[in-house]
Amino acid sequence: MRTSSIADRVRQIRGSGIREFFDIAQRMEGAISLGVGEPDFVTPWSIREACIFSLEKGYTSYTSNWGLPELREAISDKIYKESGVYYEPEGEILITTGVSEAFDLALRAIVNPDDEVIIHEPTYVSYKPCTLFAGGTSVSIDTEVGDEFKLRAEKIEEKITEKTKAVVLNYPNNPTGATMRKKDLEEIADVVNEHDLIVISDEVYGKLTYEGEPTCFSSLNGMKERTILLNGFSKAYAMTGWRLGYATGNKEIIEAMMKIHQYIMLCAPITAQMAAVEALRCDDEVERMVSEYNRRRRLMVEGLTEIGLSCFEPKGAFYTFPSIANTGLTSEEFAKRLLFEEKVVVIPGSVFGDAGEGFIRCSYAVSQYEIEEALDRMSRFLEKHCVV
Ligand SMILES: Cc1ncc(COP(=O)(O)O)c(C=O)c1O
Repeated sequence: MRTSSIADRVRQIRGSGIREFFDIAQRMEGAISLGVGEPDFVTPWSIREACIFSLEKGYTSYTSNWGLPELREAISDKIYKESGVYYEPEGEILITTGVSEAFDLALRAIVNPDDEVIIHEPTYVSYKPCTLFAGGTSVSIDTEVGDEFKLRAEKIEEKITEKTKAVVLNYPNNPTGATMRKKDLEEIADVVNEHDLIVISDEVYGKLTYEGEPTCFSSLNGMKERTILLNGFSKAYAMTGWRLGYATGNKEIIEAMMKIHQYIMLCAPITAQMAAVEALRCDDEVERMVSEYNRRRRLMVEGLTEIGLSCFEPKGAFYTFPSIANTGLTSEEFAKRLLFEEKVVVIPGSVFGDAGEGFIRCSYAVSQYEIEEALDRMSRFLEKHCVV
């Protein structure tokens, strides 16, 4: 009998730390979760209606592997209108089952064994496991709260070796809520050009930017050819369960991604694609949700500061990332005790890599009542545990 039938690379990986907390909280009566990574809004009605109508008309088949032409055209128009970059609907846009699939395809399309992929930390939980699954090696760069969790061009330069293939960018960022200024991104673009790298830019929170305008990385000088731009419908359109995203980039890379996609996924669900065409017409609904998140963001940041947790002011996404250094607890201890003593779910920063230790992630994609009640409970908890 073998010692294990599971492949080494899969055994190396710990299950997502976020799920552990949800599973406990779900069985706990009266628990409040600030752990969620998804909108608390239901998908806007006109989008749901478009979906229902498509089913009534009998659209239940596969689509082209690339995705519906009318959706690719609408995405092309939208990106051009918002950032001035033109992607050809034929060959430069691939519809995927969420940004998750698009990210996996991007890595598998470009990474050769042992190629290095630079990832800034704290980081979204999927990036490192996907790099490993693609046969690559992830190289971390820590970002710091004192520098608003920005990724600096010079730090990338320090990590570049002859094996470096790509840099992953995620701004607005999960878990910190950080954003980047255009000028800082331009400096990264210069390094990328000089060292002949590819950027995988996950801009799924782009529309959830509360201060300043988001910069689409591929709109920077020379970056269209070097960027695999990922986006989707989960966050801005409150469509997490529909599983729809897209990748845009140069024809050679998008075609390579499509080669993998056609064998493993065939196509994204037609119902979600039909609904997404309508979603792209729903700017006012998106604005309404963004303005509500912005109100809650202020409430959360003020509340955390008041109860004694110093909090970097997030400029995008729907997360706060306060420091818990003054408690003397590790982030995992903090999150576990808070859950068992006060029934509040937060995510330990360590889940997002070593640079996340000393912080917790609190989502404000929850109701005002839940924010206020959670803050009261956390305040009581801190009275017991604040040691500094
Ligand atoms: C940074 C980031 N990228 C991608 C995803 C997954 O997106 P999708 O639902 O489109 O697969 C998430 C979900 O939390 C995320 O935070």
